[in-house]
Formats: sequence, C-alpha cells, structure tokens
Amino acid sequence: MSKAIYPGSFDPVTKGHLDIIIRASRIMDSLTVAVLDNPRKVATYNIEKRVEMLKLVTKPYPNVNVDYYKGLLIDYAEQKETDIIIKGLRAISDFEFEFQMALVNQKLNPAIETLFMMTNSKYSYLSSSIVKEIAALGGDISSLVPPEVHDIIIAKYAD
Ligand code: PNS
Repeated sequence: MSKAIYPGSFDPVTKGHLDIIIRASRIMDSLTVAVLDNPRKVATYNIEKRVEMLKLVTKPYPNVNVDYYKGLLIDYAEQKETDIIIKGLRAISDFEFEFQMALVNQKLNPAIETLFMMTNSKYSYLSSSIVKEIAALGGDISSLVPPEVHDIIIAKYAD
C-alpha cells in the first residue's frame, strides 16, 4: 500500500497546494497533508486554522487526511509509518532548497523517499506569501485560493 505525506506550512493553503494534493491522492492509496507547527516561526494563521482550512478543501477526497507535526519531518514520517514524502516544485528557485532538504532527509533515513511533483503551470507563480500580500492590500484572491477558504483567509485582513 502506498502511503505518503505532503508536508508544508500551508499558511494558507492555495490552489497550487490543492492541485498537488489532488494529483498525489490519485497515485497514492493514502495521503496525509501534514502542517508544520513551528514554534520558531510566527505564522499568519495558527495551526488550528491551517488544519481547518485544509480539512475543508480536502473533504471530497476520501483517501486524504490532514494532520500536523512538530520537530523533524523525518521523525514524523517514521511515526506515521510512511515511506514517501511528496513535495511540489514550482520553479528552479524552489529546487536548490528542496534538493538540500531531500538530501538531508535521505541522510537521516534512507528508507524514506522524497518524490517531487511539478506544479500545474497555471499555478507556477503562486505562493501563500503572494496570496497574503494581495489580500492585505485589498486585492481579489478568488482565483488563487479554493473557494471554501476564501472568506477565512480574507477575514484576517478585514480591518
Ligand atoms: O511549505 P514550506 O514552508 O516550504 O514547508 C517546509 C517544511 C515544513 C516541509 C519543512 O521546512 C519541514 O518539514 N521542516 C521541519 C524540520 C525539518 O525536518 N527540517 C529538515 C531537516 S534540517
């Protein structure tokens, strides 16, 4: 049985993330979308909100579940008895960091493979930071985020 995790900050989830989730869920028997709860980095949306948003957008996909983790990704993968980590790649600029992370994780546990999925070209420019920048400045983010979470995202910038 192929069991994978798709880790990230998801601060907040975008249409680009959801595209990777849907495509990965088609080729894996089960997929856990795992949100990093990082006490060293202040997130815009707290861990409960990020998990809630992911649960809303992944509801239609029965083999997808949402969880969060603290600490090392590889420890979490071991704990979940998963041997596949899915990462999305948007551009060459993502590659260097992701390559380094994949090699570090390979060093920490060679039995766990990192698989990269190329972004859908429609979303190659998209990131959580871009969504927040546009929302904060009053722009329209409806083409960038799943409709189920649009209002939750903009509520943060209502004032
Ligand atoms: O969405 P992001 O911020 O690009 O996701 C990065 C993430 C959360 C997948 C990655 O930073 C992570 O898992 N960090 C946890 C600590 C860890 O395992 N680091 C790698 C070894 S140094």
